[in-house]
Amino acid sequence: MDFKGKIALVTGSSGGIGECIATRLAIQGITVVITGRDAEKLKLLKLKLQSMGTETHMVVADISDPGTPGLLIHETIEKFGRLDILVNNAGYAVSKPLSMTTAEEWDSMMATNARGPFFLCKEAIPYLLKSDCGTIFNISSVVGRVGYENQAAYAASKHALMGFSKVLAKEVQPLGIRVHTIAPGGVATEMAKTMRSDLGTTNLILPEEIADIVEFLLKFRGNAMIDNIDVRRSNGTPFA
Ligand SMILES: NC(=O)c1ccc[n+]([C@@H]2O[C@H](COP(=O)([O-])OP(=O)(O)OC[C@H]3O[C@@H](n4cnc5c(N)ncnc54)[C@H](OP(=O)(O)O)[C@@H]3O)[C@@H](O)[C@H]2O)c1
Repeated sequence: MDFKGKIALVTGSSGGIGECIATRLAIQGITVVITGRDAEKLKLLKLKLQSMGTETHMVVADISDPGTPGLLIHETIEKFGRLDILVNNAGYAVSKPLSMTTAEEWDSMMATNARGPFFLCKEAIPYLLKSDCGTIFNISSVVGRVGYENQAAYAASKHALMGFSKVLAKEVQPLGIRVHTIAPGGVATEMAKTMRSDLGTTNLILPEEIADIVEFLLKFRGNAMIDNIDVRRSNGTPFA
């Protein structure tokens, strides 16, 4: 498929995995709408993508704000008139025992990691239906399937993301929209440094490897359907 003229929206593209995915899509000739809360980091990425010859639009927004999903789709359609690929990547975690987790922390993780992506999918569907390569990537986590100490609220939010993604895949795949959930273990980003310092810095999955999977899935539009991908480290650890 020729991806020239296609439009992607990548949340959490101001750093880590999202920045890698946005860059990889731009290399394919895809115009990318980048978004996050850190305007300075987004400006740097915008300059990088423009220097590669890719048109880019940046939107500074907090995905936990209930108005953000609608705003992001509105800005994308206003600017480019279409949306072909949605990457729900923005996410964060607080590492704490359940007994010390506050209602504010619970609400914030659920709003960022589950509610934001849910309503972004909802807002995006009418436009993805018009595309010949409508695709949603939801970046979950190994804790979307299992549980680790001190990650109760984060795990709950990623389980929620996994849950609605499974349903959405069944609802929209017959209509031509592909929904892929990618659930990585430890990836070498700022998040892994703070959340899983026990994993060390060696043998972590590289963010570029997640971008490799996104690129593969985007190009793979055969009769076989790939719903969920678990990505674990190659050092023998069953999870993480
Ligand atoms: N690193 C890992 O080991 C790992 C493993 C499994 C899954 N994941 C998942 O992968 C995704 C990316 O994580 P990462 O490792 O790349 O972490 P990261 O380097 O900390 O990047 C997180 C990204 O999410 C954005 N973000 C966070 N909260 C946001 C909010 N309220 N509104 C808008 N944007 C927000 C950040 O942008 P701003 O700061 O600019 O807002 C940043 O661009 C997350 O969903 C994470 O749960 C990571």
